[in-house]
Amino acid sequence: MEKSWWKEAVVYQIYPRSFMDSNGDGIGDLQGIIQKLDYLKNLGISVIWVSPIYKSPNKDNGYDISDYRDIMEEFGTLEDFDELLAEVHKRGMKLVMDLVVNHTSDQHPWFLESRKSKDNKYSDYYIWKDPVDGNEPTNWGGYFSGSAWQYDENRGQYYLHQFVPEQPDLNWDNETVRKEVYDMMRWWCEKGIDGFRMDVISLISKPEEYRDGPIHPGEKYSFCGAITANGPRVHEYLQEMNREVLSRYDLITVGETTCVTLDEAKKYARSDGKELNMVFQFEHMDVDSDEYGKWTDKKLYLPDLKKVLNRWEKGLEGVAWNSLYWDNHDQPRVVSRWGNDSDQYRELSAKMLATCLHMMEGTPYVYQGEELGMTNMHFTDISQCDDIEEKNIYVDLVQDAKVYTHEQMMDIISKKGRDNARTPMQWDTTENAGFTTGTPWLGVNPNYTTINAADQVEDENSIYNYYKKLIQLRKEEDIIVYGNYESLEEEDENLYIYTRSLQNKKLLVICNFTDKDLKVPDSVREMVEKNRGILISNYKEGAERLRPYEATVYLV
Ligand code: GLC
Ligand code: CA
Repeated sequence: MEKSWWKEAVVYQIYPRSFMDSNGDGIGDLQGIIQKLDYLKNLGISVIWVSPIYKSPNKDNGYDISDYRDIMEEFGTLEDFDELLAEVHKRGMKLVMDLVVNHTSDQHPWFLESRKSKDNKYSDYYIWKDPVDGNEPTNWGGYFSGSAWQYDENRGQYYLHQFVPEQPDLNWDNETVRKEVYDMMRWWCEKGIDGFRMDVISLISKPEEYRDGPIHPGEKYSFCGAITANGPRVHEYLQEMNREVLSRYDLITVGETTCVTLDEAKKYARSDGKELNMVFQFEHMDVDSDEYGKWTDKKLYLPDLKKVLNRWEKGLEGVAWNSLYWDNHDQPRVVSRWGNDSDQYRELSAKMLATCLHMMEGTPYVYQGEELGMTNMHFTDISQCDDIEEKNIYVDLVQDAKVYTHEQMMDIISKKGRDNARTPMQWDTTENAGFTTGTPWLGVNPNYTTINAADQVEDENSIYNYYKKLIQLRKEEDIIVYGNYESLEEEDENLYIYTRSLQNKKLLVICNFTDKDLKVPDSVREMVEKNRGILISNYKEGAERLRPYEATVYLV
């Protein structure tokens, strides 16, 4: 397999709003990030991805961009950015920008012009359709509840927005739009950035014809993503982008590809380098969803998770490249979701989940606070929440459809809502977890007095120092990056077991996803007994049985 620096990297995701506030306005900012770069360097991180920092009215916290070439006022200035980039590079790390080009903000000058008339330079920059029989052009519903179409009085037409109405979709079939995007990307590359994480990039190529989609019983709209994802020209556009921009620089690129299938991923992340380096797939994030999508407290059934991840590991092996993640700014905290966030097991289970992920084949992503085992928040009222998705779904499922009571819904939001990931980073035991001297834009999780960076950096047995060790091992052991993946005991409901092999070397990874003491399965007993050493474990001494949330990596 061909070696690449981005295969060997560990990427750390920063959600700037919640990372570190340097000026006491309660909102994280670029100077705040600069203050914490040594913390990341110490963790061993090689690449930092920052969620959007461009000018934005913040309808979707920066994922609605009104100027691609300027910085959001709350976050700082372009000078701050240049300083950040220089400081990152000075420490031998790299910086990845979030590229949000499926849509812009409705306040972007392109859209302000576009909605003015049907025949100006920008008219065709977005997707405008005439009403059909006085109604919306199709029955499509957006990602965050409601219709995906918005009527505009002035043009007497509807525009498409797969997210909130303030996020109109760009028209990628318009060559001028594509040129503008590539131009803007080159502008950032010339500044010296090191890559792009591409927001919902699987949605950019729309179908040739706009038709109604299927409607599930009890629902009003047909989910647009199922219709628009992996559209007819998406690979053509990404190859063009690759020729025009990506191939001219030494970048790391990862596409956030909602609704991606394994076959599609083989094209996006193809190893000949014609499109992207890797994609974020979502199948493993859906294993605890049900008829209401993620808005359920359905428990994880471990074989479901293993089947998905094993399919992706084997499916892309040798032909493309995987990304590995449990957490990001759109997902709840994994230690609460699939681990155990009780006092007794939080540390063990956070380390177990980290081991399970970081030993797989692919580039691992760490989301801020994951390295501390930060947990979900306990929201009791929707007024404590900020996220537009949570607010909309609350209205949908509690007030309109009456599927859940207030209490049930708040419990589910506390399990699955995006704000769980967005509570401020827990730096120390001072007020507001050291995140801000002002009033934080989103409530701090009260458990910061026991879960915080200051304590964990000092404590050699902490989750932080365990992540540090995992990251270090990856730099030392080629097999962790390039070894072949083989799953074992796929039906086992409690244990996640797999091997990695490279030349004459082999690793056996055993993870106990339960709080029970379990026996080593017969199929791997011999390998365990004859092991040639332990690479890493979240328990100090070896034992005959698998202890609660044990994760051990054997050299076999
Ligand atoms: C991606 C982002 C998410 C955002 C959405 C619309 O899924 O990760 O935070 O809301 O795209 O831009
Ligand atoms: Ca600030």
